[in-house]
Amino acid sequence: MKFYFVVVGILLAVCFVQCVNQNKVTYDLPEAMLPHVKQEYLSRCEKGKILYDMNCAGCHNTKVKGKVVVPDFTPEQLKGYELRITNARHSETLTDTTVTEEELGIIMTFLNYKKKNDSK
Ligand code: HEC
Repeated sequence: MKFYFVVVGILLAVCFVQCVNQNKVTYDLPEAMLPHVKQEYLSRCEKGKILYDMNCAGCHNTKVKGKVVVPDFTPEQLKGYELRITNARHSETLTDTTVTEEELGIIMTFLNYKKKNDSK
C-alpha cells in the first residue's frame, strides 16, 4: 500500500514538472552581449512573450504533438510597424488600441531572440 502511494507521488511530480516546462521559451542572445544588457533583454523578451500570447498567439501558434510552437519569423518578416498593414488579417485586428507601438516593439524583441524551433 505504501509503495502505491510512492509511485503515484512520483508520477504526479513528473507531470507537474512537464507542465511547468511545456510553455518555457528559451532565448538565443548574442555571446558578446554584456551580462547586465542580457538581463535587460531577457526581461524584455519575457514581457514580449506575454504580449505575444495575448495578441498574436491565437492566430500564429501551432501545436505539434501537444506542444505549443511559436513560429520562427525571419528578421525581414519582423519589421515592426509594417506588420500592422501588410496583412489583411492584421489591419483589421492589430490596431493601435490592441497593441501600442511600444508593445509591438517588445513583441518583436521576443520573436527575434526566442530560440529557433529546429535548434535543440
Ligand atoms: C487575426 C489573426 C492574426 C493576429 C491576431 C495576428 N496575426 Fe500575424 N498574420 C496573420 C495572417 C493570416 C498572416 C499571413 C499568413 C502567414 O504568414 O501566416 C500573418 C502574418 C504575420 C507575419 C509575417 C509577415 C510577413 O511579412 O510575411 C508576422 C511576422 C506576424 N504575422 C506577426 C504577428 C504578430 C507579432 C502579431 C501580434 C502583435 C500578429 N501577427 C497577430 C494573422 C494574424
